[in-house]
Amino acid sequence: MKFFLDTADLDEIAEAASWGALAGVTTNPTLYSRIGGKLSGFHDHIARICELVDGPVSAESVAMTRDEIIRDGRELAAIAPNVVVKVPTMVEGLAATRVLADEGIPVNMTLCFTVPQAILAARAGARYISPFVGRFDDISEDGIAQLDDVVTAIGNYDFAGDTANGEKLEIIAASIRSANHVAQAALMGADIATVPFGILKKCVQHPLTDRGLDAFMKDWEKVQSA
Ligand code: G3P
Repeated sequence: MKFFLDTADLDEIAEAASWGALAGVTTNPTLYSRIGGKLSGFHDHIARICELVDGPVSAESVAMTRDEIIRDGRELAAIAPNVVVKVPTMVEGLAATRVLADEGIPVNMTLCFTVPQAILAARAGARYISPFVGRFDDISEDGIAQLDDVVTAIGNYDFAGDTANGEKLEIIAASIRSANHVAQAALMGADIATVPFGILKKCVQHPLTDRGLDAFMKDWEKVQSA
């Protein structure tokens, strides 16, 4: 499984990229708003993210009709070669995805919650599908079980003929809220987990690692003074 960072914060992206394990970034309108982003600076901001990360960067269309999404998608894709156009899973989004995919523009279909939505996104040519985990948990449903169903269903078929440029369709476990979500996504074989920076830090940490390191340092002090 690959790690993407789910943020629009340049400092977080630069820091996570320096750890050597970052494969991409996903953004959305909420994440851009959270860093105080302005409409006029949106394309420049995506360009800066694309320079920081060696991998796909999802930038979301906020249009509601297929023609507007297609126009948005073409403009976003022109920002940098590693831009992936993020499109909501809805009828207009599916129609736009088909057109963009046929033009060789990779699409990440977002706000995906169910198996039928995921299969439709795949057949419409999505390069990535983003099932949301945490938002299912928010409504007292089992987000991990829903993600598992999507991974299983997508794994039953070959979508290479549907995606832009015949590339492999990949599932991005999104709306990740804990290191346990990350572990469960990896165990079921999700291709990617897109993770907020705070959760990525928690993925690195473990109290037994800290305790073991503390013991090693103390014992090394004894060696130095022996
Ligand atoms: O990339 C979008 C997704 O990860 C949103 O997560 O926490 O707002 O449900 P959240």
